[in-house]
Amino acid sequence: MLAALGSLAAALWARIHFQTLLLGAFAFLFFVEFLKRRRPKNYPPGPPRLPFFGNIFQMDFEQPHLAIQPLVNKYGNMISMDIGRVRNVIVTGLPLIKEILANPDHRVVNRPIMPLQERIFKKHGLIMSSGQEWKEQRRFALMTLRNFGLGKKSLEERIQEEAHHLVKAIQEEKGQPFDPQFKINNAVSNIICSITFGERFEYEDARFQELLKLLDEAICLEARLCCHLYNSFPSIMYFLPGSHQKLIQHWGKLKLFVSHVIENHKKDWNPDEPRDFIDAYLTEMTKTDNATSSFDEENLVCSTLDLFLAGTETTSTTLRWALLHMAMNPEIQEKVQAEIDSVLGQSQQPSIADRDHMPYTNAVIHEVQRMGNILPMNLPREVTTDTTVAGYYLPKGTVILTNLTALHRDPKEWATPDTFNPEHFLENGQFKKRESFLPFSVGKRVCLGEQLAKTELFIFFTSFLQKFTFRAPPNEKLSLKSRVSVTLSPVNHHICAVPRA
Ligand code: HEM
Ligand SMILES: *[C@@H]1O[C@H](CO)[C@@H](O)[C@H](O)[C@H]1NC(C)=O
Ligand SMILES: *[C@@H]1O[C@H](CO)[C@@H](O)[C@H](O)[C@H]1NC(C)=O
Repeated sequence: MLAALGSLAAALWARIHFQTLLLGAFAFLFFVEFLKRRRPKNYPPGPPRLPFFGNIFQMDFEQPHLAIQPLVNKYGNMISMDIGRVRNVIVTGLPLIKEILANPDHRVVNRPIMPLQERIFKKHGLIMSSGQEWKEQRRFALMTLRNFGLGKKSLEERIQEEAHHLVKAIQEEKGQPFDPQFKINNAVSNIICSITFGERFEYEDARFQELLKLLDEAICLEARLCCHLYNSFPSIMYFLPGSHQKLIQHWGKLKLFVSHVIENHKKDWNPDEPRDFIDAYLTEMTKTDNATSSFDEENLVCSTLDLFLAGTETTSTTLRWALLHMAMNPEIQEKVQAEIDSVLGQSQQPSIADRDHMPYTNAVIHEVQRMGNILPMNLPREVTTDTTVAGYYLPKGTVILTNLTALHRDPKEWATPDTFNPEHFLENGQFKKRESFLPFSVGKRVCLGEQLAKTELFIFFTSFLQKFTFRAPPNEKLSLKSRVSVTLSPVNHHICAVPRA
């Protein structure tokens, strides 16, 4: 009897013990995960999360910047959301955003690094670095950009020259519908290329066009679900196919291109006559002690690539938004043209000094940036040391996202938040600065290219409207739909640039 029971138990055990073990193991892992992920005291509130996945299924990856308004209404201006296993706090409203990004003790200046970016950039360069390395790289980049003309005449001349080339290329379209993306991309990219690589590229240069396409695709891929999953489960996703693999390949190619340019620079480099950013960097590498400084080959490649990518996509996207808004608002376009005609006429090339005399044009460019809102959630920051903001405890390592959309579309701040309206930046015909306008972010980590970008936007935009009137192609309606990637950019479209006069 006992023996029979014993063998029954053994048989049962044999059947269930594997599943039980597995179940037990899972329960244990969940429990550990639960303990590990428990929110600390006074941590910002947020919706309940699943273990491992966090709030990933509550995110709308098609429109990540729009998805959570109901949660803000429920939980307030600082809410916690986990994407996979990454702890995020989303901040809304100017006072809190300023307190976080621009407070005097700079507790939120690090950049979080996700496994995918870690694999590609390894925390080097300008955008992804933190701590002492970031300080050194940023200081050097700013100084060098200044030496090669940031805020000086020579850089302005480069932009004017490029604007001239671009206007000629657009003239070749003879007023027929064309897709402005890659010409504008190429022209804008040429500015940063001439500073970093010492050369510009012809718009017909197939190899360079290929590179710009790679960059554009990489920026798109980054928003895919696979890439978010990689960031939560790198050791699994590493082995799986998907857009993350393509992304890694693309960045590899972009890095290779930069490495080639650097190798070529080394061949005819003369430390006494630096031609560009790369030359200056090579000199810096020999000056500093290799053991303690961050000026090495890896940082050279990453910083150069960062300037290239940050200096291309953003400004070019903003200019494409500008043309769309002009084509869709003909009365506003006419007013800009009237101002250009009265201040510059048809032949004088615009320069940055003219901006003070062109408040309407300046207001239009600001309004383009407000409506374009191309980095809706800013770039993420990371808390550097444990800190308390507005009574909430933010432990070191918390990822902070700031909602710039909420700022740029705040109905309390803007007369017509969802409609293009340059009056937002005008008062009695004069240009008026607005506090709730932060397309370049604020604080110690504010966009490094802000001055450069503003100069580019003014000179390119004014040059366009001096020579052309932008219109929708016949029988077509233009739309303000945006493509979601790292930035919000116009969806593919054609536009007509009708020559003036
Ligand atoms: C309309 C054009 C542009 C916009 C809207 C823009 C916006 C931004 C924003 C929001 C950030 C994040 C700042 C933060 O973390 O708080 C940023 C960072 C950065 N931008 Fe721009 N940017 C533009 C053009 C440029 C240009 C032309 C350059 C070229 C030099 C550039 C280089 C950078 C770099 C290197 C960073 C990283 C800075 C750091 O982490 O310390 N940007 N930009
Ligand atoms: C950002 O703000 C906008 C406008 O208030 C809102 O619709 C959106 O849900 C917010 N997004 C996030 C991620 O906080
Ligand atoms: C640092 O390394 C580079 C080569 O990587 C070398 O040319 C340079 O002399 C070194 N500098 C110092 C100070 O050791």
